[in-house]
Amino acid sequence: MLAKIEQLLQEVESMTASNTEELEALRIKYLGKKGAINALMTDFRNVPAEKKKEVGMKLNELKSRTQERIAALKEANESQDNGISELDLTRTAYPIKLGTRHPLTIVRNKIIDIFSRMGFTIAEGPEVEDDLHVFTSLNFAADHPARDMQDTFFIDVNKEDVTKNVILRTHTSSVQVRTMEKTQPPIRIICPGRVYRNEAISYRAHCFFHQVEGLYIDKNVSFSDLKQVLLQFSKEMFGAETKIRLRPSYFPFTEPSAEMDISCDICGGKGCPFCKYTGWVEILGCGMVDPNVLEACGIDSKIYSGYAFGMGVERITNLKYKVKDLRMFSENDIRFLKEFEMAY
Ligand code: PHE
Repeated sequence: MLAKIEQLLQEVESMTASNTEELEALRIKYLGKKGAINALMTDFRNVPAEKKKEVGMKLNELKSRTQERIAALKEANESQDNGISELDLTRTAYPIKLGTRHPLTIVRNKIIDIFSRMGFTIAEGPEVEDDLHVFTSLNFAADHPARDMQDTFFIDVNKEDVTKNVILRTHTSSVQVRTMEKTQPPIRIICPGRVYRNEAISYRAHCFFHQVEGLYIDKNVSFSDLKQVLLQFSKEMFGAETKIRLRPSYFPFTEPSAEMDISCDICGGKGCPFCKYTGWVEILGCGMVDPNVLEACGIDSKIYSGYAFGMGVERITNLKYKVKDLRMFSENDIRFLKEFEMAY
């Protein structure tokens, strides 16, 4: 009998229970009316008188150890599940509110998608730039007005060498420069990103906006390649009926340069207040990369030529979704953002 008690003592010391049901089963097994300990109590009658004291003490020890152990396990379980046993798995779930994509993200992704299918890869670069990559390498004359304090955010002005001025990039053409410095043609990239200009904030201007610029450099690249790529882009972005027209323009880094209009999709080209009764709306700037730019970036302009273009994502988004006030894009007004729930 002593051996049996010893064995039970060991069992009790090592017992575990991970929930209330298991614990109750253990209690019944050892301490219940028909449990192991009560059975020993009944057998106790048959223990010879001279052994009764020793066995009785052991039996009492077993009983109190079992009670202690069960109480300890109960406490451990309660502190652990902290009401989890009351978890109602049949209750309907709380609705999870899904966010919506920002309209500028939707449009940027669409632009990237169209150009990716035409073989362009994405290139990215820093927003905090130096003058060399934003202006000098792009053939901006030393006194070009874009370098003016009115337009550019200066972070650090270098008195000895303006090309080392630390500034916020005013266009993502700086990423094109960085790519040309590192890679030899063929280069076919688009550069999406945020740019900064020191403008008074109003419904039609902000001190930051987003661009996607493109660059293609290879042997024998011509203006007609550029025109075809832009026509294809416009049709995919604004619909198969869209027409484009190129007007001569000027940028320091392209020669010849042009601005591109698309046929107004509100009036179908007939004329309306949106297109100021011209039937056309401007969407981007473009041109053939100036040989000076290629040379400044270490590319031989006698072998290679290329085109570049750049567009504002806000402008394209306005055209597609008719957002009247640019400031809406950065105000995080949920009512505005929710309107684009179905847009992608
Ligand atoms: N970098 C010009 C801008 O920010 C856009 C542009 C890019 C124009 C490439 C021509 C060629 O306005």
